[in-house]
Amino acid sequence: MHSLGTLEDLPQSYRDRLTELNLVPLWPNMRAVLPHKVPSRKTQTLNWHFDDLRPLLIEAGDLTPMEKAERRVLVLANPGHGLTNMQATPSIYMGLQLILPGETAPNHRHTPNAVRIIIEGEGATTIVDGEPCIMERGDLILTPSGKWHEHQHDGNGPIIWLDILDLPLIYQLEGSWAIEGTTQINTLNRDKSFAEYSAAGVVPELDFQRENTHSPMLRYPWTKTRACLVEMAEHYNKHPIRIAYVNPETGASLFPSIGFGAMMLRPSETLSLPKRTTACVFHIVEGNGSIKVDSNSAIQWAEKDTLSAPGYTDITLNNTSATKPAFIITADEAPLHRYLGIF
Ligand SMILES: [Fe+2]
Repeated sequence: MHSLGTLEDLPQSYRDRLTELNLVPLWPNMRAVLPHKVPSRKTQTLNWHFDDLRPLLIEAGDLTPMEKAERRVLVLANPGHGLTNMQATPSIYMGLQLILPGETAPNHRHTPNAVRIIIEGEGATTIVDGEPCIMERGDLILTPSGKWHEHQHDGNGPIIWLDILDLPLIYQLEGSWAIEGTTQINTLNRDKSFAEYSAAGVVPELDFQRENTHSPMLRYPWTKTRACLVEMAEHYNKHPIRIAYVNPETGASLFPSIGFGAMMLRPSETLSLPKRTTACVFHIVEGNGSIKVDSNSAIQWAEKDTLSAPGYTDITLNNTSATKPAFIITADEAPLHRYLGIF
């Protein structure tokens, strides 16, 4: 591929005339936006170690009362995208949120889709469109676009969870906005949607067209997901133990933008993931291990850590324990890549 002319090749007077009319020449930047064969990627491989983060999050609880924060969150910002842009990957936002006993996070709704993965604590509830969802370690709680949600915490210790949103994508589309609401009056049964949708192959009968853009099940309990992975491992000796979280009505991803999955690494297992176009994040629910991306040096991970890795890379995960399995929840942009035909 031959090199193209640069901006400096052009006379300054010509460049000034272009700028005056809000014009730019394509050729000096064309290789940057359309590189040969492999896209340029800003997402860096890194691990946000929970043990490093936790003290800072707890300190935020002392420094900033809830009424001054509304959402007390430390954003896991990938430096490749610029820290202020709040991107873990091109379209995934991640943040660690803290709620102290007796606190509430006020009711609101917004256009970005959100999932929270519970990391620590007991006794908290997220109320989604009137449905109280209990929050236990490893659970996925969904707040799809437009749904009212607020958090309450009646437990003893702090509760910490990982928020995962398609905020960077919706923001870039100039579609990101929120509205505040009054506290929801709980009229529904706890985990109503889980009761309706958790029996495999069975969904509620409706007399209207199903809405397919997001999953109708709002809570995916980790105990069920873990039990499924463990049972799969009893049936397969070598096969990778991976599952996808899906909309129980359609089998599609939970959201059109972000896909979620879970995997189990057997003791001492090394798993090379299929090379894919999408950046990916990993949240370690249980276990200790390492991740190696292309020829870079391996990065160690431990329970409750959260990692990112760019697409178009060879990713290898290793469970460094010889006795215990490791469990990982993943999130990526695969649904969007599939929709766009670039997966
Ligand atoms: Fe929210």
